Amino acid sequence: MLAYVYAEDENGLIGKGDRLPWRLPADVKFFKEVTMQGDVVMGRATYESIPNRPLKGRRNIVLTHNPDYEAPGAIVVNSKKEVLELYEKYAEDFYIIGGVSLFKIFEDDVDYLYRTVIHDEFDGNVYFPDDFDYNEFELEKSWDGNVDENNKHPHTFEIWKRK
Ligand SMILES: NC(=O)c1ccc[n+]([C@@H]2O[C@H](COP(=O)([O-])OP(=O)(O)OC[C@H]3O[C@@H](n4cnc5c(N)ncnc54)[C@H](OP(=O)(O)O)[C@@H]3O)[C@@H](O)[C@H]2O)c1
Repeated sequence: MLAYVYAEDENGLIGKGDRLPWRLPADVKFFKEVTMQGDVVMGRATYESIPNRPLKGRRNIVLTHNPDYEAPGAIVVNSKKEVLELYEKYAEDFYIIGGVSLFKIFEDDVDYLYRTVIHDEFDGNVYFPDDFDYNEFELEKSWDGNVDENNKHPHTFEIWKRK
């Protein structure tokens, strides 16, 4: 299974510079639980934004045009085709974790969406592709996360499956 894993606010915002616009530990925990079941695939910018890279316990695959790029502890690939070849080779779930450039190029390939909607509006400049066609997917499951002192923004976890 090929899946997207992402969090967005009420306006589809997913990033501010190279960072997330919010702090929501409950979503970090959910992200870890989901992605621990397979391998993670990310763009070079997202990879570089992870403080303790690579993400532990998961095979990390990084996409860049640079054939000389070095990412210790990760596999570097230079095309979407190479990602799909690894997907066939390893026969494991692949979780595409961003950023927006990857959320665009795998739109026709992705089977599942793990989307966290944060019911708030934030400042930022990076948006999930606004032409993404949710009509191709059906909502399989959704549930509200707990709001507490550490997780102040109301949020909903959603799992969508391609029809
Ligand atoms: N809210 C969320 O769930 C979430 C998740 C992840 C990221 N984000 C946010 O998204 C933003 C980063 O997104 P982004 O789109 O700027 O960066 P990105 O997708 O992480 O990385 C972009 C880079 O990936 C490489 N790349 C993309 N398509 C490629 C292709 N077809 N072939 C080869 N290489 C390719 C290129 O690297 P080279 O330049 O090295 O060639 C490109 O510059 C940040 O704000 C981050 O916080 C949000």
